[in-house]
Amino acid sequence: MFTARDRSWDELRGQMDSLLTREEYEAARLSTLNAHYTRRDLAFEMWQLAKRLGFRAGGTVLEPGMGVGNFFMVMPKDLMPGTRRVGVEMDELTGAIAKALFPNSTILIEPFQKTSLPDNYFDLVIGNVPFGKIEIVDPAFRREPFITRNIHNYFLAKSLLKLRPGGVLIAITWRHTMDAKTGKWFRAWMSERAELLGAIRLPRETFQRLQWGRDLKIAEMPPKTKSALVDSSFNGAAI
Ligand SMILES: C[S@@+](CC[C@H](N)C(=O)[O-])C[C@H]1O[C@@H](n2cnc3c(N)ncnc32)[C@H](O)[C@@H]1O
Repeated sequence: MFTARDRSWDELRGQMDSLLTREEYEAARLSTLNAHYTRRDLAFEMWQLAKRLGFRAGGTVLEPGMGVGNFFMVMPKDLMPGTRRVGVEMDELTGAIAKALFPNSTILIEPFQKTSLPDNYFDLVIGNVPFGKIEIVDPAFRREPFITRNIHNYFLAKSLLKLRPGGVLIAITWRHTMDAKTGKWFRAWMSERAELLGAIRLPRETFQRLQWGRDLKIAEMPPKTKSALVDSSFNGAAI
């Protein structure tokens, strides 16, 4: 789409050119690595999991990197009454769509690293974090550079700090969160603060057009203790 050499996208490119400002077009071009959204059936199942793990109506939910809000869209109706939802999205146009779709939720259109949300507050963090070898600048972690080295791990770590004790994090992340040898300090940091409830390696077809392996990770802040379940039947995608 953004490669002028590929003429098959000419028509759509022309439409985008006329509809978006230069800044919006550039932001869309830069967001392509992470501008893919979670299948709603998968998001729905993650809400079912949240329920099984104790999340109830009237709680507080955070989705960092929410895209247009596929997770909010399929949130079960019985969880709605009194629940306060906060979504964070960096891309302005995408965030504006989310704002229009969810007028009763708090949508912050800014980078997660700039978001100041209370620590120890949310009952649930749910979503599909942006991923890649993208370094994040966040002075809050200046003593823990292994956290800001990759955006996916950074999102998980900051999310964890936002959870209240006993709160639950259910997130799709890149398989390197679990696999990367260089991620051992990050994993140790997480395990000092939360109990890993389970990790599921999603089949390659889950994100059909992506070549990257994705994992579903479930962590819970103490004091509750549960055992971990790891399904590693899928051996990871070649990258
Ligand atoms: C993989 S998509 C997932 C979107 C949504 N959570 C879903 O599952 O459908 C990641 C989203 O994070 C956003 N994003 C990337 N970097 C971000 C940052 N630093 N702060 C906030 N949002 C970011 C992207 O624009 C994109 O919409």
